[in-house]
Amino acid sequence: MKSLVILISGRGSNMRAIVEAAAAERWPSRVAAVISSLPGAAGLAWARERGIAAEGIDHRAYASREQFDAALAECIDRHAPDAIALAGFMRILTPAFVAHYEGRLLNIHPSLLPAFPGLHTHRLALEHGIKIHGCTVHFVTLRLDHGPIVAQAAVPVLPGDNEDALAARVLEQEHRIYPRALRWLLEGRLVVEKGVVRVTGEDADESGSGMHVFTQSNLSASGPP
Ligand code: GRF
Repeated sequence: MKSLVILISGRGSNMRAIVEAAAAERWPSRVAAVISSLPGAAGLAWARERGIAAEGIDHRAYASREQFDAALAECIDRHAPDAIALAGFMRILTPAFVAHYEGRLLNIHPSLLPAFPGLHTHRLALEHGIKIHGCTVHFVTLRLDHGPIVAQAAVPVLPGDNEDALAARVLEQEHRIYPRALRWLLEGRLVVEKGVVRVTGEDADESGSGMHVFTQSNLSASGPP
């Protein structure tokens, strides 16, 4: 059975979506551990209650990024994971860490990359007046919020949106595409060629491309603009 380790720093709603999808869809893999860079992260308690090994490694206790990443890697490697998911993990990773997990490490980012890497994506989306926003699951590379794209979901930016409303609409889609992308990785169905990801096998998704476009008709919760 394949195993997955999820890294969080806060509330862990993506982590919960992954754990719940794995159980509901009976993945032939298990969530071996949830590890947080902050011991008080709300998501840790939730994981513990479900019998998942949950550990906080306080990044503030380490003198350097390298030392923290080494401790983190040691903790991760105890679970010998086939895949590692960054799910709201608010740390910049060192080159050694990224290299160690190359091909096994995914991240979710709340924008349609390559637009808006970094923080405050929803604010920037509103400031730029973009009409389509969304989220991206990608392989992690040395460049922050950059790397071969596995899946994206798009949502409209609606008149009257504020940051919170837009964030909530995007988050709903994060919870859909991240479990799906991780499952593909755990099933060995992702092929990266010249920086482009192809999902192999039947039923890759509706479009066969890792793309999810949510149009007005399937956005009834938000209502028409
Ligand atoms: C999500 O919006 C994710 O895309 C970003 O940080 C947020 C984490 O939320 N990287 P949660 O902890 O999964 O609820």
